[in-house]
Amino acid sequence: MRSYRVSVCKGPDCKGNGSDAVFRHATEALPRLGLAPRCELYRGGCYGLCHLGPNVVVREKSDRPPDPFSTEDFQLQGTADEAYYWQMTPEKMERMLLEHVAHDRPVRDLLGDPDTPEDFRASPR
Ligand code: FES
Repeated sequence: MRSYRVSVCKGPDCKGNGSDAVFRHATEALPRLGLAPRCELYRGGCYGLCHLGPNVVVREKSDRPPDPFSTEDFQLQGTADEAYYWQMTPEKMERMLLEHVAHDRPVRDLLGDPDTPEDFRASPR
């Protein structure tokens, strides 16, 4: 059974677009779903992907030493275990926790593309 580290960005753009609600939902959902023992929740900084947020990054907990500058909370690292979720909402966070954290299955249709240039909010989904 894997353990995870989940980070929710908190720059002003993403806060304005709902990252506080996404973080609050995770705070409430982890104990309710019995997942708190295997998932640490962090408030990241800004990943520089504000136009695609709110953004959530999930990585497996490992024996890697903690980054003293916490770059993992404001940069994608490109590690094999890293999953980048974009356009997050409380409902999507619930689903991610139920599938990715609870069953080690990243939710493919919620994964983002950091190379997307334009603001997704400007075009219909
Ligand atoms: S504030 Fe979310 S990526 Fe910048």
